[in-house]
Amino acid sequence: MLNFQFHNPTRIVFGKDTVPALDELIPGDARVLILYGGQSAERTGTLAEVRKALGDRAHYEFGGIEPNPSFETLTQAVEQVRFHNIDYLLAVGGGSVIDGTKFVAAAAKFVGDSWQILETVGGAVRDALPFGAVLTLSATGSEMNFNAVVTRKATQTKALFASPHVFPQFSILDPSKTFTVPARQLANGVVDAFTHVVEQYLTYPVDARVQDRFAEGLLQTLIEIGPTVVSQPPDYQSRANMMWAATMALNGLIGAGVPQDWATHLVGHELTVLHGLDHAQTLAILLPSMLDARRDGKRAKLLQYAERVWHITADSEDERIDLAIEKTRAFFEDLGVKTRLSDYGIQAEAIDGLVEQLGLHGMTRLGERQDVTLEVSRTVLEASL
Ligand code: NZQ
Ligand code: ZN
Repeated sequence: MLNFQFHNPTRIVFGKDTVPALDELIPGDARVLILYGGQSAERTGTLAEVRKALGDRAHYEFGGIEPNPSFETLTQAVEQVRFHNIDYLLAVGGGSVIDGTKFVAAAAKFVGDSWQILETVGGAVRDALPFGAVLTLSATGSEMNFNAVVTRKATQTKALFASPHVFPQFSILDPSKTFTVPARQLANGVVDAFTHVVEQYLTYPVDARVQDRFAEGLLQTLIEIGPTVVSQPPDYQSRANMMWAATMALNGLIGAGVPQDWATHLVGHELTVLHGLDHAQTLAILLPSMLDARRDGKRAKLLQYAERVWHITADSEDERIDLAIEKTRAFFEDLGVKTRLSDYGIQAEAIDGLVEQLGLHGMTRLGERQDVTLEVSRTVLEASL
């Protein structure tokens, strides 16, 4: 096992009808800015519940944080924070709103050009406003981690930052809040959480048995509940299991002391900025070909994945690996997430542009062994057509 430190300060308040707990979680004298996305939080009544729970606290609202939140929009929120003397932020939404809130929290305290927060991958962050979250969509794990992904539209850059200053102080996880999530986003959530586990588990063995068994448990849970999560009418128990699985998939626990990959995510970011695909769609396309192209470096873990997650035992090693990758693809397809670039109208001519962007963004040595060069990414993209 590799050396590690593990610290996660986010309080989780889990269960039905937990929004009123905001009253105990946010200081009584706080000046609060509620941040949300498009119309879903208003339409579903969640914002009304939140306003009620805040009671007499001075509170303001900033809506319009888009999926794949933009630096441009978030900069306007930072101005609101300064204008109204806000000292507490509350994110109401999915990963985009929570990530956006993390950026606003850090930028509000940042001296200088706040894009440096992204350029330094969070290294320049010294302080941030405190914030909490009311989660409305299970997928990213942003509700219990210190990562955020922000897109600068002007330069077509989707960049990540991480800083211990942007852990949410608390997150309210009410699974029934996901009842109104559209089928496409539900399926996206399962694919995203699944891929988060794979990026931390499917590398090379370091005899990290606890992390491996946790990861395999999360993958098996997602495989088990995935079909019910995306079906109607909504089923509370499977949504509850989904919500907790997605949170546990990326809160630092299974990634402590193990090598991590993240090449699928980083190549996927370029597909989102250049072609507008949903985050999870990019993962569903790239993960199967990424595993296939890198099967030698990942051989031992691929065999473990085949046996323990998919219960494949027969035949030769390569056949087991082929079958495990095939089952992964079929799992995504069965949820309703297409796994080929061509399914989204992206053809071979697009690949040069994608590889060029990867080069521009310094994505030239990705993966747990830093051996995913631009050539490997090109091979993966070609195999994903
Ligand atoms: O904008 P509104 O109207 O609220 O609609 C949203 C949005 O259109 C809708 N939605 C959310 N909750 C709903 C709902 N609709 C009905 N009922 C509800 N209860 O769903 C749409 C998608 O929301 P979004 O927040 O964009 O989805 P998700 O949670 O998948 O977040 C994706 C973002 O997170 C980043 C991605 O890159 C992407 O920008 N990620 C963040 C990570 C992290 N912080 O650790 C890790 C991930 O790998 C990921 O990169
Ligand atoms: Zn993701």
